[in-house]
Amino acid sequence: MFTTVRSVSEKTQPGALPLDLFAAIESLKKSLNAVVLAHYYQEPDIQDVADYIGDSLQLASAAAQTDASVIVFAGVHFMAETAKILNPNKLVLLPDLDAGCSLADTCPPSEFAAFKQAHPGHLVISYINCSAEIKAMSDIICTSSNAVKIVQQIPPDQPIIFAPDRNLGRYVMQQTGRDMVLWQGSCIVHETFSEKKIVQLRITHPESEIIAHPECEEPVLRHANYIGSTAALLKYCQESSSQEFIVATEPGIIHQMQKAAPHKAFIPAPPENNCNCNECPFMRLNTLEKLYLAMKNQAPEITMDEEIRVKAWRPIQRMLEMSA
Ligand code: 13P
Ligand code: SF4
Repeated sequence: MFTTVRSVSEKTQPGALPLDLFAAIESLKKSLNAVVLAHYYQEPDIQDVADYIGDSLQLASAAAQTDASVIVFAGVHFMAETAKILNPNKLVLLPDLDAGCSLADTCPPSEFAAFKQAHPGHLVISYINCSAEIKAMSDIICTSSNAVKIVQQIPPDQPIIFAPDRNLGRYVMQQTGRDMVLWQGSCIVHETFSEKKIVQLRITHPESEIIAHPECEEPVLRHANYIGSTAALLKYCQESSSQEFIVATEPGIIHQMQKAAPHKAFIPAPPENNCNCNECPFMRLNTLEKLYLAMKNQAPEITMDEEIRVKAWRPIQRMLEMSA
């Protein structure tokens, strides 16, 4: 872990922040009996201070198993909400409550209830990137690392609704040969990659491999040498003999890739426009400063209606059992 000492402007932060945030966070972890869980898309400083870094499934499993009293979730709202669903009696903190998810937002509960009603007899499998209300209306939750495995366990004659990500849904259909009714949601970050620029990059880096998250659109996925969750992409680039990778997912993951394989090169897949839109604007709302303040103030806290929590717990539990 780096021991970066931050210079804090008295003007913008009047006495609120200690100079060594890393040390202050370590001290708060002990006094609160807190664990810091961080997603791979978090800024490098947050990843370096975390007790556990993972993809959505690994973080949900870590939240299910922790004996800490406080869970500090450095990720987005649906991830922290999942931790709360699994730990109703623990304090779950999210450094910035506005850290939402564009994909989860594509699936409003009232519209999804009507969609379900229009497809009677369908089993509902929802990607974990959805609200607690959507989880409560689902039969099984999945993540990008277990979606194929879960769908393969469903009897072949059982019709399935898959929500909310149409790209992951289409990928699962291709992998399993199953037909599914797809909710037409998508992620603003994974939709932004340019097929043309990726192909051009591959021409100038002929030895490279393209690795992609299944939330990417089909024109990008068809060029990929490997498709997987963030954790699977990290594992793949360590095990592959290639020395260069074009990474079609949020570039926050490259921090761990670079640590795990310092002699390899990782090139972020370029977005369509000349912007930073391959960075998740929601994940990036969390900062080390906000993480420290959340621990110090024990807020903002994730809360939810108990009836929804109980209903949302069952499909998450089913996922954990089916992916064991
Ligand atoms: P992973 O489960 O692969 O980490 O995906 C989370 C996510 O939000 C991808 O956009
Ligand atoms: Fe949601 Fe996309 Fe951000 Fe993942 S990258 S948290 S799916 S907006």
